[in-house]
Amino acid sequence: MSNFNPNLLPYFNPQVERRVCLITGGNSGLGYYTVLHLYLHGYDVYLAGRNKQRVLHAIDSLNKEAVARRSKYSQSQLKKRYLGTLHYIQIDLLSLNSVEEAAIEFKKREKVLHLLILNAGIMATPYSKTADGFEIQLQTSYISHFLLTDRLYDLMSSPETDDQFQLMKNDSKVYNTSVVNESGLQVNDPRVVFLSSIGHWFVPFHFNLNSQFNYYPNIIFTLFRYGMAKCAGIQFVKTMAIRHPSVLSVAVHPGIVLNTNLFSHLTHLPLFGTLFWIFFQIFDWVFGVSNEEGCYSSVKASLSDEFDKSVSNGNYYVTFGVEANPSTIASNKDYGDESWAWTVKQLEERGHKISNL
Ligand SMILES: NC(=O)c1ccc[n+]([C@@H]2O[C@H](COP(=O)([O-])OP(=O)(O)OC[C@H]3O[C@@H](n4cnc5c(N)ncnc54)[C@H](OP(=O)(O)O)[C@@H]3O)[C@@H](O)[C@H]2O)c1
Repeated sequence: MSNFNPNLLPYFNPQVERRVCLITGGNSGLGYYTVLHLYLHGYDVYLAGRNKQRVLHAIDSLNKEAVARRSKYSQSQLKKRYLGTLHYIQIDLLSLNSVEEAAIEFKKREKVLHLLILNAGIMATPYSKTADGFEIQLQTSYISHFLLTDRLYDLMSSPETDDQFQLMKNDSKVYNTSVVNESGLQVNDPRVVFLSSIGHWFVPFHFNLNSQFNYYPNIIFTLFRYGMAKCAGIQFVKTMAIRHPSVLSVAVHPGIVLNTNLFSHLTHLPLFGTLFWIFFQIFDWVFGVSNEEGCYSSVKASLSDEFDKSVSNGNYYVTFGVEANPSTIASNKDYGDESWAWTVKQLEERGHKISNL
């Protein structure tokens, strides 16, 4: 148990300093609570989701929850704690074209982006390929998020600002230096947060992202595929930190949170589903944290002013935002460069030229 308290993180007054966030998968599980805390801290949050009805329902529920929580604040707290706004954006990460459309739509609505949370994911699904030709867990968690980051990066920073940060990166004062995006607009403290997982350890060997791990039994090899996607995400933030030092890029593991929808493929299996469900309930009781506690690593990575880009960029944080070392495969710079090059090539072969990263 931790004494982490989200109310001690900075609040932003939208009238004085407007902050904009886009999060994928903010309508359920960990994403839902991440949105709630950002909203309560004054952020204008865009929930990018594939099902409009589910996202609008979540927005409605988040509004009610925020009102209920704010009704418990004292008058002096209310003066310092600002409420942001919530918006819906359509995205289906299983389609690269949908990612492109979401980015275009977002850019019609916003000229700056402070916080990009790559949260959506699926786990333990049967082997299947998307219309773009990638394994579905890999595309959902990693490939589409890579493309989305590329398409929105120019709202967060610019090559000139990255060049300046390259020169100053050993200087801890860099953290407070404001970033200027492609349109010349100031963006304070831009961040990318990738939802990885302790499951990235499922692939403890050097892999090629072409690997399909489509073997029997699926129950084992689907976890290799999940692990590969989550490992690639850590490699992504580490490579981002080197190539784009003006933006703080970090990966998080939320904890073991067994009451989100992430495990639904397993708990709905014929015959074994109920056994999985019982096992998960017991496991959760012993090792798990609540859905809300599970969001704290993302919330801390998003809001905390303790980070110093000169030392924190590319880091990995686990439950309650505690810094940890990821696997050597995830940390290896050459493997990270290899995965990056592979991803750029694959996206470009499909007509999605990488232009900002
Ligand atoms: N729960 C854990 O113990 C745990 C542990 C480690 C890491 N994580 C990671 O944490 C993240 C959040 O997981 P969670 O536990 O909160 O699971 P969740 O409740 O299933 O939430 C996943 C979110 O991703 C969205 N999503 C899935 N596929 C999508 C697609 N093709 N396009 C757009 N959105 C899509 C879902 O939207 P729909 O509602 O439309 O399906 C949902 O909002 C995931 O990346 C997961 O891998 C979770």
